[in-house]
Amino acid sequence: MMEQLDELLICRLEDRHKAVEPCTVVIFGASGDLTARKLIPGFYHLYCQKQMPRPFRIVGFARRDKTDESWRDELKVAVKEYSRPQPGLIDAWDDFAANLFYCRGDMDDPSAYQRLAEFLAKADAPPLRQHLLFYLATRPSQFSEVSRHLNAAGLLRKEHSEDSWHRLVVEKPFGHDLNSALALNHELVKYAYEKQIFRIDHYLGKETVQNIFLFRFSNAIFEELWSRRTIDHVQITVSEHLGVGSRGGYYEEAGALRDMVQNHLLQVLALVAMEPPVSLQPEAIRDEKVKLLKAIRPLAPNQAAARVVRGQYAAGESQGKPMPAYRQEPKVSPDSNVETYVALKLFIDNWRWSGVPFYLRTGKWLPISASEVRVQFQPPPHVLFAQQCGPTLDANAIALRLQPDEGISLRFNGKIPGLSMELRPVTMHFSYDTEFRAYTPEAYERLLLDAMAGDPTLFIRADVVETAWRIVDPIRSAWADKPLSEDEFYKAGSWGPASADALLARDGRAWRNPHERG
Ligand code: BG6
Repeated sequence: MMEQLDELLICRLEDRHKAVEPCTVVIFGASGDLTARKLIPGFYHLYCQKQMPRPFRIVGFARRDKTDESWRDELKVAVKEYSRPQPGLIDAWDDFAANLFYCRGDMDDPSAYQRLAEFLAKADAPPLRQHLLFYLATRPSQFSEVSRHLNAAGLLRKEHSEDSWHRLVVEKPFGHDLNSALALNHELVKYAYEKQIFRIDHYLGKETVQNIFLFRFSNAIFEELWSRRTIDHVQITVSEHLGVGSRGGYYEEAGALRDMVQNHLLQVLALVAMEPPVSLQPEAIRDEKVKLLKAIRPLAPNQAAARVVRGQYAAGESQGKPMPAYRQEPKVSPDSNVETYVALKLFIDNWRWSGVPFYLRTGKWLPISASEVRVQFQPPPHVLFAQQCGPTLDANAIALRLQPDEGISLRFNGKIPGLSMELRPVTMHFSYDTEFRAYTPEAYERLLLDAMAGDPTLFIRADVVETAWRIVDPIRSAWADKPLSEDEFYKAGSWGPASADALLARDGRAWRNPHERG
């Protein structure tokens, strides 16, 4: 009975989505890690969920010598390795793999693009020739080169019509600072209109991150409380229990600020704090996000020290196993000053959030892998219980658990049963797993589907990426050439440098670590 009632109350927003038309996807960087770990498993799961268009083709473009068959065999192993285990996982593989093709070529060789064009032109079904999605899973420095060659080969044109479309999907990082992002945009818009460019931030594809928007704007009770009038501060934690591993070369260029803060954390912040958009149209939503990011108070380099903390992991230990220091990782300079941890305090200078601090932090080799947004409400007025209990009376909080153990918790005070009058915090949990027990798509599945459907809502518009660089660039300048000091190192497996605690302690607050949820 209850289930029937719930079924009646489901609000389906699917008509917002366009149907996915038959198309060809070309992946540049087809021999890389991303293709094996995320892209092909993502397409395969979409296929198993009957979400792939019919017909479709996926063409891998890379330098290594492979045949269609050898690429398919490799990818079968990858799908087994990188998918969540499930019965019959690989049953549909052969049917799916018949749509995979490999095209060998150097990304800087114009004749390779001619060969690709000839191959694409051979498809029987016209939409497979006319609807082309180019996924650039390459080094960022190759984005403009590949686009230029595609354009020269007549495969990427600056036009968009019902019968024919060409789209570019580009991975992060988009530039390494504002100037390089502007230059890259300038290059790409020579070959494609902004609406043909899909900039990925995979956090936006996560179910729980999408749910921030739905949670806020479909529940009047919470939205009513979502402002400086009731909220004391917000904490966003993206903690990773892993080091940089084999990605040291990339990470030396990026650091945590560029790798995580400029994109994932600021995107989560935008969703937590933005105003309701006027409609569910992609541009209405993206307009509100950029408006929010523009309201973030700029950090002058001389203020960065007071509002930003960086750190780098030193050797530590986890469950009896030694963990190397960042400086000992492969392809990392032994005197590197690159940050593996960042904590910062931001203010949003708009009507809703004036004066409310937003504390963001992320780091490698922290004690657990967990991402969480904690909205901390103001303490109750200093009368009645608060007057008697003082600081032991906990303030209410909502925790949006992004991963793992996805869900939402509401923390409030309750009477401990018994004859005495005692209060303590209790927590109401909503767990995705318990509530839905449903298949949760991986972030990339959602994003690949949306890119094929041409829905840009969960992709980063040029002005959003540029605004995000404007926020982080002054921080980077403040660090430039300043070697890390002794107290900026933290032991791998700890919660980061002590100065990150001091950042909040100065305001009379403390971090709430995800595992300390009560
Ligand atoms: C990537 C970063 O964008 O996100 C990685 O480059 C990071 O350094 C990863 O580990 C985290 O993603 P997730 O989905 O595992 O939280």
